[in-house]
Amino acid sequence: MEMKESMREMPTVMVAFGVTGDLMRIKVIPALFALHVHGDLPEKFCLVGFSRRDWGDADFREYVREIITWRSDRHTQRVAVGPPHAATEKDIASFLNLLKFQSGDFSDKESYAALKRMIDGVDASWGVCTNKIFYFAVAPNFYEPIIADLASSGLSEGCSPEEGWSRVIVEKPFGHDGESAAQLESLLARDFKEEQIYRIDHYLGKAVLQDVFDFRFDDGSLEAAWDAKHIESITIRALETLGAEKRGAFYDSVGALRDVGQNHSLATLSLLTMDRPSERTADAIREERGAALEALEIIPYDAMASETFRAQYDGFREIRGVAPDSNTETYFKICASLRSARWHGVPIIIEAGKRLAVPEKEVVVRFKDGSLKRFDFNTAVQYTEEYERLLLDAIRGDQTRFVSRREIEAAWRFVDPIERAWRAGAKLVPLHRYAPGTSDITRQADF
Ligand code: BG6
Repeated sequence: MEMKESMREMPTVMVAFGVTGDLMRIKVIPALFALHVHGDLPEKFCLVGFSRRDWGDADFREYVREIITWRSDRHTQRVAVGPPHAATEKDIASFLNLLKFQSGDFSDKESYAALKRMIDGVDASWGVCTNKIFYFAVAPNFYEPIIADLASSGLSEGCSPEEGWSRVIVEKPFGHDGESAAQLESLLARDFKEEQIYRIDHYLGKAVLQDVFDFRFDDGSLEAAWDAKHIESITIRALETLGAEKRGAFYDSVGALRDVGQNHSLATLSLLTMDRPSERTADAIREERGAALEALEIIPYDAMASETFRAQYDGFREIRGVAPDSNTETYFKICASLRSARWHGVPIIIEAGKRLAVPEKEVVVRFKDGSLKRFDFNTAVQYTEEYERLLLDAIRGDQTRFVSRREIEAAWRFVDPIERAWRAGAKLVPLHRYAPGTSDITRQADF
């Protein structure tokens, strides 16, 4: 309650770059609306949409009105939840009042000067130096100009050490391999300090992964049996019925392993296998998650065929934006293991894929005595609770559920050799095929 009250007193301006993209439409704007309806946003809050569209505030508000009153979309089978069922026209109107729009080009200095003038205007009308959050929901090739111009316009700095902080929220993908991730990190580090950078892997915001943490370190009843002596295997599964139809070009350039494995599956693995943090601080927890990922055994080249499996669904190559001879995997299964004494010899199966028969997102811990412990992710609806949690964390300055640089580096160290082996051709690790809407492929890999 105290936390909630002090949060309410943090005047905040959030600037969303790429405000007309899918992520904003499906997750971020509905999450902000939910927070507004529940009275969780700061009392003084302003969302500035920034994009190339030639819009004014009224157009942006109309656009957002449609998003927050939208209930379902047959095509994506996604269901918008959150407040609409409880929201009134008054809620909608008061939310729309918090919105402003800044039309501009991501690489045009004048647009940032105009943005700065707009934010200064908000500061002046509220009589405070506001906190600023810059949300990068854009393709990574825009990061460079955005970061450089935020810095040159003075927006990357607070007003003074005591007044008005400035933070950035960066969405995955964090690079497409270790090297590009390191380049992105140096770019960010040039103008922002680590405590200003909030890297989102929305899985870290999921309630079920918070449950894993609480179950292990608060409940603690199984912690003594949480090791190789007692555990036979761990499976981290993310099977989806949705395909890549709506984002062919992007998906073809990444594939299932980089789309969800490098981030969501490994974030899950880190929470399952990390050691107890020395204290409950963001730094200590992030260090332990990073150490867990650093303990991943790098799969040697000659074991790639036995420890990794990949497949593509029929019809994937016909999707708009996908190369007709694409060898991108839409399904994978990997048998990972950790070097630590605690987990030595325990197979950790990571599996994810698109266009399978049924959605199955779960963690299954199999004990040597035959018992199971399951954590199931909610697959019934597309909900925004993770984003609500993460946005509030970013406003109140809690980095616990955000990915650290160390975790990203360790994740790529594990994934890069697999990607290299897969890209080297079909000889080493064949690319299997499966019919969309079936799940036989999940039983084909023999581990
Ligand atoms: C995204 C991936 O990061 O996570 C998508 O790009 C995937 O391909 C999604 O479907 C899964 O998230 P969730 O929350 O629906 O399990």
